[in-house]
Amino acid sequence: MRVLVTGGAGFIGSNFLLESVPSRGDCHFINVDSLSYAANIRNLDAIASAPNYEFHRLDLRDRDETRRVVERAAPDIVVHFAAESHVDRSILGPAAFIESNIVGTFHLLEAVRAQKQGDILFHHVSTDEVYGSLGPTGYFVETTPYDPSSPYSASKAASDHLVRAYHRTYGLRARLTNCSNNYGPYQFPEKLIPLMIKNALANQPLPVYGKGDNVRDWLYVSDHVSAIWAVIERGRDGETYNVGGNNESTNLALVERLCRAVAHATGRSEADVLGLITFVKDRPGHDHRYAIDAEKIRRECGWSPAETPETGLARTVGWYLENQTWVESITSGEYKKWLELNYSERTGS
Ligand code: TYD
Repeated sequence: MRVLVTGGAGFIGSNFLLESVPSRGDCHFINVDSLSYAANIRNLDAIASAPNYEFHRLDLRDRDETRRVVERAAPDIVVHFAAESHVDRSILGPAAFIESNIVGTFHLLEAVRAQKQGDILFHHVSTDEVYGSLGPTGYFVETTPYDPSSPYSASKAASDHLVRAYHRTYGLRARLTNCSNNYGPYQFPEKLIPLMIKNALANQPLPVYGKGDNVRDWLYVSDHVSAIWAVIERGRDGETYNVGGNNESTNLALVERLCRAVAHATGRSEADVLGLITFVKDRPGHDHRYAIDAEKIRRECGWSPAETPETGLARTVGWYLENQTWVESITSGEYKKWLELNYSERTGS
């Protein structure tokens, strides 16, 4: 089985490959990535010389090269992770999201369509943010109407629609997963959990947007990886599966838990670390609550998350503590410019 993985040097893709390449000797993995700011080829050191793994640098915005790479790869399965994924960046600069997430997905779909598209399974990795925001009760199900709030979620919604249209129009064997907020090793520290761990370790302010009462459903990245394999192996073509961690928390409660975990791991007092929490100006169009009903993937594919909130957060804090040189190596010039751009206007809300 030949598996083409886009975006494998980013957070979720890296975790997918690091778990899959060693354990699935029956699969040959062809990994493509543009290696933009949040990707790091070093994440894949552990599998770089594996006989069932190869890497090619590819920017999906390049239509012709995408077609050539897909033709050479001759995949049986495409797992499409590659995307710009940070909401705040999409607010400050939406163009990259339109180009990578919509046009890039279009180019990949076209490249697959030009092959034996009746046979290739196209697994599209997407987000629950396409559904917009929930009130205090209820859950996203697969039939919840799309209602995206940010340029990021609108671009992912558009890519989901394209994938479904290729299934209906051209018979592409497409499956989609829409997951809740991922966390775990190798996540770029622009997202809430790694940013807070990094800042807490460096004794820097922990910027909580608004009142910190927004709710997210946190999914440990290995559980996301197992969900994707469950859908590849036991899902149905043309279907969407929501994937959630059954792990809802307000942002403030989550940051407080992280503070306690960092205090515990470093021997500092909880009060010292909690004292770093700083409320800052809210994100425009900030979705209030995301929560997933993952009953369909449980029923049809036999999937459920293995990590509890406690075990997942403990593993994540432990990983960032042990990998501080990784954090330092990726948080150089461009990253510092981003912090300045995103946070300098927010302080003192
Ligand atoms: P994020 O990790 O950016 O994921 P998403 O926006 O896709 O849910 O943010 C998670 C939540 O944390 C979201 O409600 C925004 C909030 N947040 C902060 O309060 N402070 C921050 O510095 C960041 C990056 C996010």
